[in-house]
Amino acid sequence: MSIDYTGKNLILESSNLEAGKVKWQSPSNIALVKYWGKFGNQLPRNPSISFTLTESYTETEIEYSEKIEKGNRIELEYLFNGQENEAFTARVKKYFHELLPIFPFLQQLSFKINSRNTFPHSAGIASSASAMSALALGLCSLEDRFFGSLAADDDYERKASYVARLGSGSACRSIFAQAAMWGRLESVPASSDEYAIPMKDGLHELFQDYRDSILMVSRSVKSVSSSAGHQLMDTHPYASVRYAEARKNCNSLLSVLRNGDLERFVEIVETEAFQLHALMMMSSPSYVLMEPGTLAIIGLIRQFRHDTGIPIAFTLDAGPNIHLLYPAKYLTEVELFIEEELLTHCEQRGIIKDKVGAGPLEI
Ligand code: DP6
Repeated sequence: MSIDYTGKNLILESSNLEAGKVKWQSPSNIALVKYWGKFGNQLPRNPSISFTLTESYTETEIEYSEKIEKGNRIELEYLFNGQENEAFTARVKKYFHELLPIFPFLQQLSFKINSRNTFPHSAGIASSASAMSALALGLCSLEDRFFGSLAADDDYERKASYVARLGSGSACRSIFAQAAMWGRLESVPASSDEYAIPMKDGLHELFQDYRDSILMVSRSVKSVSSSAGHQLMDTHPYASVRYAEARKNCNSLLSVLRNGDLERFVEIVETEAFQLHALMMMSSPSYVLMEPGTLAIIGLIRQFRHDTGIPIAFTLDAGPNIHLLYPAKYLTEVELFIEEELLTHCEQRGIIKDKVGAGPLEI
């Protein structure tokens, strides 16, 4: 059943509202089963599952005051890293405008938004996931502050996830600690295309502090923009096969995340990374986003796994950089391997040491 967040009553009455601010930090996430293909208003063609990260996050402060001018024009200024950013201002204005049926009070306020990322631009980390989830959490905080309507944690998180999804699909998964699943899957009754659900209870302790070392093969922007990428799936000859594969991989991964079978984990995660890239290579137009360094690192990862029996696995976003996933207990061996063999294939030996984390935080 579709959720109705039409916020007819969420209109501010007072004409002398005190100015104030809310601030959230929200992490990025790395998909294990990938979301690639969407329809309607930001609905996924297949379910996806991700780990929520710790170190790679966006911090967003929303300052508000009463808007003097009447009407539905969105009054907003967006600063990124302390600098006014026209592209972000335009994107967020459009987003707020689209959110007016849910949060009508957005047209009654004037906003100054300040945000920064802890990770560099185009580091192979989905910045829209952290940015849009931080913003959505901030908007839910405003609703709760003005109307007290989101008292229960579940209500709050579900609405934040729903609203984040409208900004960027993968952002809806960042709302939850450790791991999240987004998209309807018949075997999971609570799953939905409209918001993500947490997976804390279904997560083996091995995964609760899993490591993600992000290897920056290239720092230049070479990814396919996500909107262009999802669109490629509308006419993709393998689309229906892909959606069926993703469902199958979600079901298998859900068991693996519960039972801690790392051999299966490696298989599923690497298959998903390659399916995403194979889809892009077979799209029209087609994209090759892996670089020589990406393939060199993948070869070395597989060799290391074969030689040591340590179950490290790689995954990829829509770009050339590698996310190397492994259990925390192998940290010493894997860090040495990265240092000695992998960093030489990274631009300026670039790496971000991240791990599965506790989710967003209000500051
Ligand atoms: C390859 O969430 O960035 O990272 O909904 O258009 O904002 P939009 O797309 P976006 O797509 C993410 C694609 C992916 C896989 C994933 O995170 O599941």
